[in-house]
Amino acid sequence: MSIIPSNGGQPWGMEGKSARPTGQVIAIRPKVTTSTILEKKQRHEPITCLTAYDYATARLVDQAGIDMVLVGDSLAQVVLGYENTLPVTMEEMLHHTRATRRAVCSAMLIADMPFGAYHEDEKEGVHNAVRFVKEAGAEAVKLEGGAQRVGLIRRVLDAEVPVMGHIGLTPQSLHKMGGYKVQGKDFSGIERLVKDAIALDRAGVFSIVLEGVPREVAAMITREVSAPTIGIGAGPDCDGQVLVFHDIVNLTFSEPAKFVRRYGDAAALISNAVHQFKTDVESGSYPSDAESYHLPKETRAELEAILRRKELKAYAK
Ligand code: KIV
Repeated sequence: MSIIPSNGGQPWGMEGKSARPTGQVIAIRPKVTTSTILEKKQRHEPITCLTAYDYATARLVDQAGIDMVLVGDSLAQVVLGYENTLPVTMEEMLHHTRATRRAVCSAMLIADMPFGAYHEDEKEGVHNAVRFVKEAGAEAVKLEGGAQRVGLIRRVLDAEVPVMGHIGLTPQSLHKMGGYKVQGKDFSGIERLVKDAIALDRAGVFSIVLEGVPREVAAMITREVSAPTIGIGAGPDCDGQVLVFHDIVNLTFSEPAKFVRRYGDAAALISNAVHQFKTDVESGSYPSDAESYHLPKETRAELEAILRRKELKAYAK
């Protein structure tokens, strides 16, 4: 068990600070690493992963004991309000990974490589993967694609950066797929997915996200590969599950996909709080005297005496 903040001394914004506005972050469980994730598959223990993009939510996710925190490029949609994940930039992903890093102590922190950060040439892909580790404190990167990414994945691993693969419905391929469509529904699709999973496994990824894949295909791949499979819309037979944080707490302002389970209603909670604040200010019930700062007794008495003298002077004129 460690009580050392996992970002101690590193350049993502906490160096030299003894206290955070919201309190010290300390680990209360053993640090999750790539070995922990692999061992969980071997012991048939379900692996948990959630996205987070900022200090507050990442802190809650980490403290709840989730194994992996993914700073997903889904932040393009759920945080930045874009229509899809394509516009989010390296700088935006780094910014949010740093914020998340400051909160996460025990979970493994994974940064998602955004569209365009590894598509043009492998050298640039390796450079960007290293930036996530060096400049934002990520412990691994995730990138989308199967066999066509094997060369890049090997080079990123050579640069000592663990890689999480991601196949099936890969949102960065939105235009090529012709929309968000479940993948691997016919025999050629199944064959392609299995080949991609095996290629990623052989390349040495520490886990593979299977998104939007029929349960039966996900189960087959999970049995076939030694890397843990992490499903999202891929049924219960994967080694673990990942969901988007905003989906599970109803903060997406849209109908959830079939595979999403909502565990809370943050939209209602926040909306009620904001309405209540507005009502209280408008009715004069906020702030109360108890919610106000006061002068020390002596200063207040002196001030009252000064005001009285002023009033008397004005009266005498
Ligand atoms: O960006 C993201 O949130 C993801 C997960 C859904 C796997 O890629």
